[in-house]
Amino acid sequence: MSSEWSASERPSERRAATRTAVVQDALDPLLDADTLSVLDIGGGTGGLAVRIAARGHEVVVVDPSPDALASLDRRAREAGVADRVTGRQGDLSDLPGLVPAGSVDLVLCHGVLEIVGDPVDALSRIADVLRPGGRLSLLVAQRYAAVVARAMVGQFVAARELLDETGSHGRAGRRFTVTELEALLEGAGLVAERVQGVRVFADLVPGSLVDAEPGSAQALVDLERAVAERPELRPLATQLHLLARR
Ligand SMILES: C[S@@+](CC[C@H](N)C(=O)[O-])C[C@H]1O[C@@H](n2cnc3c(N)ncnc32)[C@H](O)[C@@H]1O
Repeated sequence: MSSEWSASERPSERRAATRTAVVQDALDPLLDADTLSVLDIGGGTGGLAVRIAARGHEVVVVDPSPDALASLDRRAREAGVADRVTGRQGDLSDLPGLVPAGSVDLVLCHGVLEIVGDPVDALSRIADVLRPGGRLSLLVAQRYAAVVARAMVGQFVAARELLDETGSHGRAGRRFTVTELEALLEGAGLVAERVQGVRVFADLVPGSLVDAEPGSAQALVDLERAVAERPELRPLATQLHLLARR
């Protein structure tokens, strides 16, 4: 299955695979096993939702943006999966009215916990809609990579503030450490089963380097896979991906 995400001939898709392959690797065993009821909270225009629906799963996307939901509808129709993808306008605080409690096999929360008002409340609402034994796939920005990125361009004060989250979050929102995430999940009654660093090298190397050399993108994907679960390199990861069970 992983080849679908990494062996594309198109440069843009090859580069995307260097950023997403390890998340897909973690999701693949779940998506290959059974037909799932999936909730993509903050799923935006539905890139991931539509790919998951194309594998036979039922996906509900909840997002506050009507424009994103319109794009989702178009994308789902074009992919021939409109009957398995439902868009609902709302945000995390609306979840209890949009999705029955205890009904979802898999919640995707990718790139959203950074920008919600209250991450503790957000995770407890997600836990409520999961069935017992259901999984949460949580993808968030990792703090220390952003500290390094700021320091490397001379933004030393911003790097210092970000180190201990003493400044404002800005437009990109919060960034998390593994310890913080594990505590947040535990508080919501969820058990972290797998933690991966995502984009450990992918954002550090110039795209031209990946495009120039045949086989380079695949070698970078392989490197990302090799380091994803190595804690010593985790502070370099742009994102953290956690799978948690209710
Ligand atoms: C960075 S995008 C991530 C989109 C998609 N999940 C992905 O990984 O590509 C954040 C998405 O969260 C949505 N969003 C913003 N605030 C939200 C909230 N309080 N609850 C749910 N979704 C929210 C936005 O409309 C946007 O589509």
